[in-house]
Amino acid sequence: MSDIAAVLERELGAGRVIGPGDDRLDDYGRDESPALLVPDDARHPPACAVLCERTDEVAAVLRVCAERGVPVVPRGAGSGMTGGCLPVAGGVVLSTERMQRVVEIAEDDLVAVVEPGVITGRLQEAVEARGLFYPPDPASLDFCSIGGNAATCAGGPRAFKYGVTREYVLGLEVALMGGEVLRVGRRTSKGVTGYDLVAGFVGSEGTFGVITELTVKLLPLPPGVATVLGVFADVPAASAAITALLRRGIRPRVLELADRASIDHVRPRARYRFPDGAGAIVLVEVDGDPDALDAEVERIGQACEGAGALDVLAAQSASERRALWEARRLISKSLRDAHRVKLNEDVCVPRGAITEMLARIARTSADLDLPIAVFGHAGDGNLHVNVLSDDDPADPAVARRLDQAVHRVLADTIDLRGTLSGEHGIGVTKRDVMTLEQSERVLEWQRRWKAMWDPAGLLNPGKVLPRRRGACSE
Ligand code: MLT
Ligand code: ZN
Repeated sequence: MSDIAAVLERELGAGRVIGPGDDRLDDYGRDESPALLVPDDARHPPACAVLCERTDEVAAVLRVCAERGVPVVPRGAGSGMTGGCLPVAGGVVLSTERMQRVVEIAEDDLVAVVEPGVITGRLQEAVEARGLFYPPDPASLDFCSIGGNAATCAGGPRAFKYGVTREYVLGLEVALMGGEVLRVGRRTSKGVTGYDLVAGFVGSEGTFGVITELTVKLLPLPPGVATVLGVFADVPAASAAITALLRRGIRPRVLELADRASIDHVRPRARYRFPDGAGAIVLVEVDGDPDALDAEVERIGQACEGAGALDVLAAQSASERRALWEARRLISKSLRDAHRVKLNEDVCVPRGAITEMLARIARTSADLDLPIAVFGHAGDGNLHVNVLSDDDPADPAVARRLDQAVHRVLADTIDLRGTLSGEHGIGVTKRDVMTLEQSERVLEWQRRWKAMWDPAGLLNPGKVLPRRRGACSE
């Protein structure tokens, strides 16, 4: 066992440290990010992984590692897609996966207090059983954790109406490098006392501190939900339907889009028989008073038909709604299963630029002879752009084309006044392209902000911020 592993085992007790030689350690050097997007100099195994169960244990790990100058990488469920929890500089992976307590669900206060390892879907079930609602719904909600959601400010389809994780985190307990434990934020839904430190921690990708407890806002559970699937010949027709339904004053909670390449990948697996000419789908979901939903569904149907829909299906029962969601939920896995390479970008463009962005992506795909499938959260302009290939990425010519495709997608996003990541974060995979979007001055102020919390740069090093120009290491 390495020195630091032995020290931490003495501190936390037996069974909490996974050290060298333990097969499980490899898992703590991986997440859901495409391996090809992780820079070569960022591939390091951790010295060990520590399974913390309480705040004082998290604080102890941060104290011991600070004293010894050892990097610490916080990790939730490992479902991130940009390498945010990869131990790119080695050191200790601090896992909160065992911190799984729902401490409190306060119905009158409309808040829940939870530990960071609680699986997001489990929290939703627990509050829904009491007629309450926690809206953020990342696609990974069955296995991602609420602490990781806060660290990355995760989104999901329902963000269109309800917003992302940031809107729901009212207060946090965080442990800082060195071992200090702070409580920031509040329990009330309103509150403007002092600077908004919660907003700083949420989305900081574990580079400011380790979240050890969250107080999240809940809403009353909407009494009814209806889902509509519109099938179109192409993306412009689908976009026209989206514009038309928004102009009719409908405020869906979900407004999802998928292109022809995505449909073609799920077609063999989905129970729904897509019409032959299907080139785009729009999935719309509304919620509220069940008596009012029929009329809304009718108006959504009219908007779809007015834009030339090839088919429109509507559902209100849970099982029928699940059937309509099936195609959308299958997309990511179908793409991954079908191709040797799947590079998933997570760009966000102003909603009015979606059609232009898809046209540019189609040109990139044709110019570089690489299939690209696009799906995602059209309501927010948040597009999951998947560059696909069956060629060997170890071939330099293939790697160059893939790299060009990704860079064109990112450059077009910025050109259309979009942003590099809508919900997956920057992590390590997009760290070095931050300069496409943010000025050196803005990056410098962010480095100072990071240094305030972690002056020695030991907490989750190598993430989010690109290296200073001319610097050869972090
Ligand atoms: C999604 O919306 O499905 C995810 O954010 C992206 C993915 O799973 O590829
Ligand atoms: Zn998404």
